[in-house]
Amino acid sequence: MGRSKNFLAALLLVVLAAAAACTSGGDGGAGGNQNAGGTGGAGATRQKKGANDKVFIGFLMDTLKEERWQRDKDLVEKHAQEVGAQLSVQVANGDDNLQIKQAENLLSQKVDVLIVAPHNSEIAATIVEMAHREGVPVISYDRLIKNSDVDLYVSHQVIKIGELQADYILKRAPKGNYVVVQGSATDNNARLLHDGQMNILKPAVDRGDIKIVVDQPAREWLASEALNIVENALTQVNNEVVAVIAANDGTARGAIQALDGQRLAGKVLVSGQDADLASLQLIVEGKQTMTIYKPIQPLAYGAVDAALKLARGQQVETNDTVDNGRKKVPSMLYEPLAVDKNNIGIVVKDGYQTLEKICEKIPADQCPKL
Ligand code: BGC
Repeated sequence: MGRSKNFLAALLLVVLAAAAACTSGGDGGAGGNQNAGGTGGAGATRQKKGANDKVFIGFLMDTLKEERWQRDKDLVEKHAQEVGAQLSVQVANGDDNLQIKQAENLLSQKVDVLIVAPHNSEIAATIVEMAHREGVPVISYDRLIKNSDVDLYVSHQVIKIGELQADYILKRAPKGNYVVVQGSATDNNARLLHDGQMNILKPAVDRGDIKIVVDQPAREWLASEALNIVENALTQVNNEVVAVIAANDGTARGAIQALDGQRLAGKVLVSGQDADLASLQLIVEGKQTMTIYKPIQPLAYGAVDAALKLARGQQVETNDTVDNGRKKVPSMLYEPLAVDKNNIGIVVKDGYQTLEKICEKIPADQCPKL
């Protein structure tokens, strides 16, 4: 609860700062405060909605494979209902053509605004173009749509996630061989994460303290891909590995399976991301070292609230900008948090997971006390 109060206080500051920037004519700039306004550019045909008109939101998702995405879907649905918006959720299951088709369908159904979690950060630029031809604003959700005139980006601080993962592991394994399992090469988040990880690891590599023996993307963020990558890495260096920097919890579990095969699970440090239930269970079991907790509610609710504003041609408060190769996209970026056995209570207090479920697979006396 304290955290959400802090968050609200931070958000208030952001709003106030944004208001100040407006009155003083400030231009925001990187790290500054900006406002995302309406959109459409030339050729915009869609009428903006009035304050009492029902807004039709389309939510284009890539996947529901990871546990978090079901949460995103549920929370977007919940909040859309709370604010009286009409909502259509489409899931492309990793298929770029299908995601574009789904966008076309929603546009032909006269959707007012699109929230897009792109499968492919580059290809999804097509969706922004199509939507803008009809004057429909687009919010890039969790993953940035590159090289496009996208109106707003709502996500967590992804570079910081990479830094938190690497920093946590490096402090506990300051020397030795590392394996890096990246996310999908089609996802801009995978790139940002890797940048963040390297911000921390590169100086240790340069000092000769650690050696990155393998650094590879896991296609489609698949656990099975991570399993292969780590198995091959272990073979290559005769099991001499002290840490696996895994991009998310799914790939962490693939890595742990490979380590288990060599009786190394629990001995080699493994990072993750998402606070999946299965990974929190591995954390209390001692097989996964840490994860990154990203509260989904502010993201989902923030996207729905922003969607309403954009559909009505109103300003949206933001706290950052991110360069997508074409423009500095006004962005609302939320804070990620490193979680391990010691502070696992955070996800429980936030109502993200229950302690009963987290400790389901271990003897009761080994369950962390909150
Ligand atoms: C998300 C992660 C997720 C991964 C795989 C990333 O873009 O930020 O939370 O685990 O995609 O779906």
